[in-house]
Amino acid sequence: MAMIALKAPGIQVTVVDLNAARIAAWNSGDLPIYEPGLDEVVRQVRGRNLHFSTAVAEGIRDADIIFVSVNTPTKTYGVGAGRAADLRYIESVARSIAEHANGPKIIVEKSTIPVKTAETIKDILAANSRGHTFQVLSNPEFLAEGTAIADLTAPDRVLIGGERTPGGEAAIQTLVDVYANWVPRERIITTNLWSSEMAKLVANAFLAQRISSINSISALCEATGADVDEVAHAIGRDSRIGPKFLKASVGFGGSCFQKDILNLAYLCEHFGLPEVAAYWESVVRMNDWQKHRFSRRIVSSLYNTVAEKRIAVLGFAFKKDTNDTRESPAIAVCRDLLAEQARVVVYDPKVPAHEIHEEVVGKGKQEPRLTVASSAYEAAAGAHAIAVVTEWDEFKTLDFARIQAEMKHPAFLFDGRNILDLPRLRTLGFRAHGIGK
Ligand code: UGA
Repeated sequence: MAMIALKAPGIQVTVVDLNAARIAAWNSGDLPIYEPGLDEVVRQVRGRNLHFSTAVAEGIRDADIIFVSVNTPTKTYGVGAGRAADLRYIESVARSIAEHANGPKIIVEKSTIPVKTAETIKDILAANSRGHTFQVLSNPEFLAEGTAIADLTAPDRVLIGGERTPGGEAAIQTLVDVYANWVPRERIITTNLWSSEMAKLVANAFLAQRISSINSISALCEATGADVDEVAHAIGRDSRIGPKFLKASVGFGGSCFQKDILNLAYLCEHFGLPEVAAYWESVVRMNDWQKHRFSRRIVSSLYNTVAEKRIAVLGFAFKKDTNDTRESPAIAVCRDLLAEQARVVVYDPKVPAHEIHEEVVGKGKQEPRLTVASSAYEAAAGAHAIAVVTEWDEFKTLDFARIQAEMKHPAFLFDGRNILDLPRLRTLGFRAHGIGK
């Protein structure tokens, strides 16, 4: 919404949320999420044509276009628990819109949702419309965290799905015109509603599948002496395969990939396609296996026991340049090491200590073996091993000679992101291991 406000100064954008603390944070000097470049954009447009407010009813009444951007977590209860999307927030927003709307509105699904959710929204709106007309569009978001501003400034494509009726086409055109303020028209794709909803889930499934594919090969590389980065580089030069998203890692994290694949698999099963469901679920299974494989490698390298050994975990966010920790592989790695009774010391440049504790051991619970350091040096001092779990740039320029000198010997290093120069680290005396190396 900040980008729309920036690029389309003629449009008034109001972000409304029931959560007053969240809105207050967006109105303050300290934004509630860390995203490079976002501060500057918000600072430029806030108060001009970007507003943050808790006045939900008023926001609905005043708007011509309403973007629904609520959470759609995986259901934790009842039918589809652990796989299906929990649509309660979508439903509640649809009901609020129906209740407060005082004229025709275009409702845009921005949240990632299962295919055919637009029908649910339409149904609720139609049943409560009090004579107003609503058009529902699907406009999934493809930005990635950490690069959101660049992704939004020059998107590969903008996707807009709508009903292929005169009313639907007109609504699609209205939204196309919003993006056309800065996105070349040929990059704005229009489809029917369900293709658009489906394309979002499928894009994430394909991206995650590439990571699981290269991660599966990383295990084979370790066993055979091949180097996974070399393999990835070689196959990526085939223009049909392409070089992106082939970086072997300790596993993918983030709020989207796992959730969207499980959701896709659940849909397949619902529509009587268990083989297709199993195919996609294997992407998530491979990812889980890779996270645990990394921890097992640490334990086996440290002579099959890490009990009471100090292990420095560098990085906790699910990727660099974000403070988001959802589904971060660091959580699984820390839990595995704690289960082996290691003393785990985490350092992350952006994630606060309380969040690290909460993610690993749960809210309000204590785990004295888990501590958080305020620098990589502090985390590594006295450690038997270092595990790099997030690819933060600052880890590449650490003084490893100093770190090695302050560690227990032999000093082990496990690079879960392949960002470090392992041969050089070995000359410094590290027993250094990478993923797929
Ligand atoms: C992902 C998609 O890339 C976006 O297009 C999509 O809009 C977004 O989900 C969403 O659905 O909201 P995001 O999860 O923010 O974006 O970040 P990614 O850059 O995709 O990274 C996901 C995970 O995969 C990270 O843990 C990352 O470290 C890992 N990864 C990525 C690898 O392990 N190897 C790679 O080659 C690339």
